[in-house]
Amino acid sequence: MSGIDIETIKNSLDAQLGEISSFQGLEECRVKYLGRKGLLAQLTSSIPTLPAEQRPVFGQQVNALKNKIESALATIEASLVGKAGTASAGPTAVIRSGVDIGLPAVAQGVGHLHPITQVMDEICCLFGRMGFRIVEGPEVETEYNNFTGLNIPLEHPSRDAFDTFYIKNAPKLLLRSHTSPVQVRAMKQAKPPLAVVVPGRVYRPDAVDASHSFMFHQVEGFMVDRGIRLSDLKGVLEFFAKGIFGQEINMRFRPHFFPFTEPSAEVDISCKICKGKGCSVCGRKGWLEILGSGMIHPNVLRNVGYDPDIYTGFAFGMGVERIAMLKYGIDDIRLFYENDMRFLAQF
Ligand code: DAH
Repeated sequence: MSGIDIETIKNSLDAQLGEISSFQGLEECRVKYLGRKGLLAQLTSSIPTLPAEQRPVFGQQVNALKNKIESALATIEASLVGKAGTASAGPTAVIRSGVDIGLPAVAQGVGHLHPITQVMDEICCLFGRMGFRIVEGPEVETEYNNFTGLNIPLEHPSRDAFDTFYIKNAPKLLLRSHTSPVQVRAMKQAKPPLAVVVPGRVYRPDAVDASHSFMFHQVEGFMVDRGIRLSDLKGVLEFFAKGIFGQEINMRFRPHFFPFTEPSAEVDISCKICKGKGCSVCGRKGWLEILGSGMIHPNVLRNVGYDPDIYTGFAFGMGVERIAMLKYGIDDIRLFYENDMRFLAQF
């Protein structure tokens, strides 16, 4: 017989199939055995040279071998597809396996920042344009920074355990109830002039309802230098309020009391819905409260080592959820925390 021998092929077949580890190897094997000029084709073409009585038996043997090789290659291909995904797959093999890696993938939805983060960034950006820098502080604070340094007296109700989360077994540590303690930290670290905004989370043991949460976000801000006046505060806040709510809004200062500022004021903007006429959103007042503010109390300046006869400053603090709710007409604070995509995807 002309060089090839069915027994030799059979004997080396298992070893050859066992060596296949890639689609390329698979294809080479297929060509070697089953190709048009492959070993089995050569065996078939040798049939006419055999004695007539041997031909049917030999023909059956070749056919059986061909079936065996075909089914072995199919099994190997299936395992390569399963194993590789398509890592080492050449294009022919991949298309044969029914997965076309050349097809563009189905686009995945792209996420975006949470509305609270967006509004907090927007607030900080507006103050950034006026030269304020961003400082952050820890959420676990000392009682001193949260209260005492800010001129909040020992008997003040906000110090009560009903209004502040104290850390168990760590007297004098608490979850900060506002971002104002970063005033104390930042002022102790630097000398005036100082213009700082402080974004961050704060905690209060409030029952959760449409307008309260045990955790929410605030942005605190303050500026200290020689000759800082209430009119500076007013100008800065007006730039901020118009930047967030629109140039057409009006802003007013309403006298108030905070231990850390003197004088103190709450700041309102005119209601966007009724344009100041009075409606259900603003409780018929025509105005909506957006933040607390004032001139930094001389005791606070003293507590951080500044001389109040030389330096003056202003401070303000706002709730980010409140600003976002007013800006977008949201009536329930809980929507921010529920991760409902129907709500979040609107921003
Ligand atoms: N810390 C106050 C609060 O959490 C907000 C505040 C009011 C901050 C007046 C200030 C300020 O800096 O001057 O309710």
